[in-house]
Amino acid sequence: MKSVLFVCLGNICRSPSAEAVFRKMAEDRSCSLHIDSAGITAYHAGESADSRMMSCASERGYELTSVSRPVVSSDFYEFDYIIGMDSSNVVALEDMAPASSSKATISLMTDYCTRFNASCVPDPYYGGVDGFELVLDLLEDACDGLLQTL
Ligand code: 4NP
Repeated sequence: MKSVLFVCLGNICRSPSAEAVFRKMAEDRSCSLHIDSAGITAYHAGESADSRMMSCASERGYELTSVSRPVVSSDFYEFDYIIGMDSSNVVALEDMAPASSSKATISLMTDYCTRFNASCVPDPYYGGVDGFELVLDLLEDACDGLLQTL
């Protein structure tokens, strides 16, 4: 079974949403995958997803159930794909990756988009509701593209 870990800064907005969107798409298409999410930082470890993000996701039928946790070194051996939401996440993941033969391929979420031409899934934390909706628009596009590449 292939495995995918979605990563953002705090693991309370973007990557929990990516996890929920991708899980629903995979279930709808009867694809069996191991899916999880994590944060570059542990600032919000143990917390549920951001309530604004949960509310926007719920409007589209996605349930955010994850509890924030930081990326750990074993993730690089456990997961086939580790996908960052922006370039700073990707750089941090590349810095954290063990030098020896980890199996994970590190990539950028928006590289899987086929409809949007975007360079990142922007951090919505300090903005308004539009930012949370944009996160979901980008994730729906990228998750669809990702599922087709797996
Ligand atoms: P996320 O959003 O990386 O999409 O979970 C953020 C959550 C919290 C903070 C920044 C971004 N923060 O600064 O606490």
